[in-house]
Amino acid sequence: MLEHLKDQPADKILSLAAAYKADPREQKIDLGVGVYKNAKGVTPVMRAVKEAEARILAEQQTKAYTGLAGDPAFADAMVDLVLGGTVERDRIAALATPGGTGACRQGFELARLAKPDVRVWHSAPTWPNHLSILKFMGVEAKPYRYFDEETALVDFEGMMEYLQGVAQGDVVLLHGCCHNPTGANLTSEQIDRVTALLTEKGAMPMIDIAYQGFGDGLEADAAATRAIASRVPECLIAASCSKNFGIYRERTGLLMAISAEAGQTKTTQDNMNFLNRQTYSFPPDHGARVVATILNDPELRADWEAELEEVRTGMLALREQLAAELARLTNTDRYAFIARHRGMFSRLGVSPEMVERLREDHAIYMVGDSRMNIAGLNAETVPVLARAIVEAEKA
Ligand code: LMR
Repeated sequence: MLEHLKDQPADKILSLAAAYKADPREQKIDLGVGVYKNAKGVTPVMRAVKEAEARILAEQQTKAYTGLAGDPAFADAMVDLVLGGTVERDRIAALATPGGTGACRQGFELARLAKPDVRVWHSAPTWPNHLSILKFMGVEAKPYRYFDEETALVDFEGMMEYLQGVAQGDVVLLHGCCHNPTGANLTSEQIDRVTALLTEKGAMPMIDIAYQGFGDGLEADAAATRAIASRVPECLIAASCSKNFGIYRERTGLLMAISAEAGQTKTTQDNMNFLNRQTYSFPPDHGARVVATILNDPELRADWEAELEEVRTGMLALREQLAAELARLTNTDRYAFIARHRGMFSRLGVSPEMVERLREDHAIYMVGDSRMNIAGLNAETVPVLARAIVEAEKA
């Protein structure tokens, strides 16, 4: 039977990571997969995570199953981190999932369970795995214009024009902050206009928030999600703990589904639990327990926030250094957008051929659409990248 299997398309981001690893050159720069690295190129275990794990190891008395929705203490802590009390708790059903990807998948599944012919609108571009999952599920994906290649900023009027095509019962996928792959984000006024439009159309927003704390700070990065979720009747939110807690391999995420009325929440929750049961039964617990331990302990939380803030400001400094270096070398401000973008990524806006030249000639790895992971840089490699960009431009 297995001989009927066909080759699947390689995941662009993950195959790039493998190609980087296989490159024997000593001086190489990895700006591919979205994993934070410090100046030494290490993805550290955060201090608060280490401490929470030590406590769990010492204190945990059982490894018996939690619930299908995971540990309620994790859900409560995450609902609070993301929504900060802006939505009535009894309207929110919450489901622990394996990572943000699991939350996205279960969110799409929930929407399809509610409406078998649901359509999902997504920014063009978006995280490629959004599209891959939707395609695999056979859910119709509709792009909306988002990124202006010329300015490397959001083409907001273009986006609004596309969103005019949204129909009642459609899902509109938005990035809560730190847009992946572009790094270009909506302003709060633009969020207000999108929210008003989706409400008028009767569409349900679904917010993927995978980088809270990586852009303008924990609270500022949640502002768009809170503004939308507190104003629309229904909303899905897929939150990831992979990046802001640095617990990538623990697979820790949460799907929140906000219903119009508290009376709907139990049925929504039961459906979400059902989805977990059909997929893998119980979600992973270790990462969720680490997150709940940190968020519920004032000292650990303060330490986590401080370390996350160092990560964030470090990436901002790299952005500014790179923009300044490119301004100096090109004598133009055409790369100034790098300092305006937020989060882990910026889309450089250069051709796939130039991305290829950077890889071949300079051992610099970025995704084919010219998405760079800023955290793959350090103060020494920024000038190397800037010089390579200028050289590759001329080639
Ligand atoms: C990325 O966009 O690089 C990350 O979200 C990692 C992944 O799973 O693709």
